[in-house]
Amino acid sequence: MKTLLHVSTSPRGERSRSNQVGATYLAQWQAAHPEGRVVTRDLAAEPPSFVNSAWFEGAFTAPEGHSPAARTAMAESDHNIDQLFAADEIVITTPMFNLNLPAVLKAWIDQVVRAGRTFTIDENGYKGLTSDRKVTIIVATGGDFRPGSPAVGYNFLEPYLRGVLGFIGLTSLTFVYAANQSGGEEAATKGVADAKAEAETLAAA
Ligand SMILES: Cc1cc2nc3c(=O)[nH]c(=O)nc-3n(C[C@H](O)[C@H](O)[C@H](O)COP(=O)(O)O)c2cc1C
Repeated sequence: MKTLLHVSTSPRGERSRSNQVGATYLAQWQAAHPEGRVVTRDLAAEPPSFVNSAWFEGAFTAPEGHSPAARTAMAESDHNIDQLFAADEIVITTPMFNLNLPAVLKAWIDQVVRAGRTFTIDENGYKGLTSDRKVTIIVATGGDFRPGSPAVGYNFLEPYLRGVLGFIGLTSLTFVYAANQSGGEEAATKGVADAKAEAETLAAA
């Protein structure tokens, strides 16, 4: 039985364009994998904790000496990493906020990128400890920041996610954009329709 982890970040629930395209992906995936299980992490509804001093203590000192706060911080990080490791496939649905990720998605990344669990360093440098798997990232944008567009140089979301997920071992990424969501009804509708068509093809693959 396959497991798909859906990490959702928009605070707009069903009105969210990234979630609407994500729903198309999930429906197609479920049709292709009738026995498959979808685990949903709604980061807007339940934001991950920010890294704090207890997290530092937990991640960088020996477990035997951990304070209760450090143990709690590591339990949250472990839970997020375990969900990631248990997934055969990952879908992230997200808006672009100010040229980059929503803060809740950055907070989730800060929980899962952890030395000794998802990456390590040795004499050869950094090495991701997450076995690669299919990751689809569905991005809703008010404008057009897609590769090939004139504003692509302002798109810090895609290069950052490629960098940080690659750092922990996830390199099989595909980005799907629902562009022009602030560009008037016609452009917004087309942006979602194009993204849904791409999502359907990807989910069935
Ligand atoms: C705080 C904030 C910042 C935003 N920054 C950008 C941006 O940098 N580029 C862009 O194209 N759209 C930007 N938008 C527009 C959203 O990306 C767009 O409305 C998107 O459809 C929201 O995603 P959702 O429909 O999944 O909720 C921003 C919206 C908000 C609220």
